[in-house]
Amino acid sequence: MKFLVINGPNINMLGIREPDIYGNKTYKDLCDMLLSHAEKVGIEIELFQSNHEGAIVDKIQEAYGSVDGIVINPAAYTHTSVALLDALKAVGIPAVEVHISDVSKREDYRQISFVREYCEKTITGHGFMGYIEALDYLLGAIEK
Ligand code: DQA
Repeated sequence: MKFLVINGPNINMLGIREPDIYGNKTYKDLCDMLLSHAEKVGIEIELFQSNHEGAIVDKIQEAYGSVDGIVINPAAYTHTSVALLDALKAVGIPAVEVHISDVSKREDYRQISFVREYCEKTITGHGFMGYIEALDYLLGAIEK
């Protein structure tokens, strides 16, 4: 079973960016945690981070036919991107939306999520654990 974990803009700045909101751990810490979880539960994961909307669209399209589930934190593109929603709809791969911070308690402009319409589930405010929960959810949903 293969899963793709996509992170949008500025997630590579974790540890530096707004630590009061996102914590002190780095993007590498996140990747290490996800890779060791994948090994533990016996799945393959690919980790992808980009600051570019089109590159994320390309990655979602490439996943067609080769990936069983997508975990996506579109970061700021959550609140702006119809293109990411359309890409997810185009490939039809089960997906879960993740946010490190609790976006529901933040600014008004963060209350809209375009990808939410497609995603089976949204996990927000659980920090790095949200990604693990998303992977486990997809694994459980696919194994059923
Ligand atoms: C985020 C929340 C978004 O509003 C923000 O633009 C991000 C990160 C999160 O993980 O909490 O970059 O997706």
